[in-house]
Amino acid sequence: MQGRTVIVTGAGKGLGRAYADAFAREGAHVVVNDIATDESGEPLAERVAEQLRGTGAAAVSAPYSVADPEGAEAVVDTAVAHFGRVDALVNNAGIVYGGSLVEQAHEDFRRMVDVHLMGTFLTSRAAFRRMAEQGGGSILNTVSTIGLFGMAGMASYAAAKGGILGLSHVLAIEGAEHGIRVNALAPMADTNPGRTKGAEEFFAPMGRRAAAEYVAPFAVFLAGSDAAGTGGVYSAAGGRYARVATVLGDGWISPGPNPPTVEEIAAGFDTIRDLRPGHELERMQEEVRLINQRLAELGNTRALVGE
Ligand SMILES: NC(=O)c1ccc[n+]([C@@H]2O[C@H](COP(=O)([O-])OP(=O)(O)OC[C@H]3O[C@@H](n4cnc5c(N)ncnc54)[C@H](O)[C@@H]3O)[C@@H](O)[C@H]2O)c1
Repeated sequence: MQGRTVIVTGAGKGLGRAYADAFAREGAHVVVNDIATDESGEPLAERVAEQLRGTGAAAVSAPYSVADPEGAEAVVDTAVAHFGRVDALVNNAGIVYGGSLVEQAHEDFRRMVDVHLMGTFLTSRAAFRRMAEQGGGSILNTVSTIGLFGMAGMASYAAAKGGILGLSHVLAIEGAEHGIRVNALAPMADTNPGRTKGAEEFFAPMGRRAAAEYVAPFAVFLAGSDAAGTGGVYSAAGGRYARVATVLGDGWISPGPNPPTVEEIAAGFDTIRDLRPGHELERMQEEVRLINQRLAELGNTRALVGE
């Protein structure tokens, strides 16, 4: 990252702060984004940027909301105005609150989607344009194991993070032709003790390894190194770093020339649920190719088009 410019959103504290520190240590020029202010009303982003400059790093604050279209553009403009380019964008800014589905207020659900999903879309769109002009770059989006695997009482958060997962897949495909790498990271760190119900139970056994500093070098690697590739989804917690994927089973092919009956579906359901051989696909067209290949092998394509 030496001499390269990275934007970290939500870097006023928590994981984003740890990422900003880690990028600065690698010699990156850091744009510190956050909307929060401290007790005296000073933007956290400016405080962090000042501290980084104090260590000899090149850092500038961008205290705008990523959920606001103009704010997101201003974050990217700040990078270009100060450092002339944007090499990496880490979409980390976020909010967390729970609430069971039936208790969830419409406006709370929408605010969650606005900050996480819309925020990631808006900063990515602004940075993507700039990276495409430059001939390359990298985007690291933040998802969550709550969105990947689910957790009771977290419907809006899981939905917003799930949206970022879908967005990341498409950005990786669209970015490939411009040399823009896009990955997604589900971090876990004890950044806000007491905020998420039950979180102490997860983090207590991890001890020091629950610190954001254990996630930060992985974020720097994913965003900063071409060796990390593109289109990946990863989980980092407690000093354990792992890849996560959605896989597709071979499935069950209906036997006759006509649509199957419900009874035939029921009889085939064990095969439908079987994930083997766990195809991992890079784009949806690959699933269509797999289906048509199986049908062609069975001489059965006419049934699919209803002829
Ligand atoms: N901590 C975890 O265990 C964990 C687990 C899974 C995912 N995450 C995700 O990682 C990211 C960071 O989490 P954290 O625990 O460090 O959170 P945090 O609350 O400590 O920090 C998030 C920062 O984002 C800022 N922010 C919020 N809305 C913003 C906006 N509209 N524009 C700019 N900045 C904004 C906040 O002011 C805050 O400083 C979030 O996206 C979170 O959902 C965290």
